[in-house]
Amino acid sequence: MNRGKRITIGVTGASGAIYARHLLGELERSADVERIDLVITQAGVRVVNEELGISVAGTDRRVVRELLGRDSERVVVHSANDIGATIASGSYLSDAMVVLPCSMGSLAAIANGVTRDLVHRAADVIIKENRLLMLVPRETPLNVIHLENMLKLARMGVRIVPAMPGFYHFPQSIGDLIEHFTHRLLDHLGVSHEQRTRWEGSQPAKLRRQE
Ligand SMILES: Cc1cc2nc3c(=O)[nH]c(=O)nc-3n(C[C@H](O)[C@H](O)[C@H](O)COP(=O)(O)O)c2cc1C
Repeated sequence: MNRGKRITIGVTGASGAIYARHLLGELERSADVERIDLVITQAGVRVVNEELGISVAGTDRRVVRELLGRDSERVVVHSANDIGATIASGSYLSDAMVVLPCSMGSLAAIANGVTRDLVHRAADVIIKENRLLMLVPRETPLNVIHLENMLKLARMGVRIVPAMPGFYHFPQSIGDLIEHFTHRLLDHLGVSHEQRTRWEGSQPAKLRRQE
């Protein structure tokens, strides 16, 4: 099929809303991506508001403008209550889904096939259709329930990509940490990007010179 990728982003109520905003921006700018389906849980709306100071309640275009700073027809916003949305069906060809950040509650729901909202249902569909599902869990410390749910999902082929920033690229700001992590997600999604901080062996001086 010769078309751009269709990627679903589920934003739940874990800390790390800034990652979701950054990934959305990268995907929206990418020539590899045709469409982004965005769904934010009720708790996600709360955490976005707490951490980014913006209101993303509802499904009107204002949500996209708040997150991107402008509107984009490539971003479609769904209500977390809308279990009749396109992404709730396997017949809608979404290539991949990222749940970012992923709360332990949503992780548990997805691991156990409990589909109380559209994030869980869309993830369930991605698993049953054998497509790429990435979860970006954020919690610390992790209890046995969290770890067992992650193991269960990993055994199903779900990619567990915790928001654990690395420091080998000499980050100078939170923006550097977010960008480096987001680029790892884009690698998994098969979306091209310009990353200047790929590890090329023991070359810290080179990275320092680029600052
Ligand atoms: C400011 C704030 C930060 C939170 N951070 C986390 C977190 O990092 N990880 C987590 O699992 N839950 C976190 N929570 C709790 C979840 O939002 C809560 O469990 C919620 O029910 C998750 O619902 P959802 O999965 O439908 O979004 C946080 C809540 C708030 C208000």
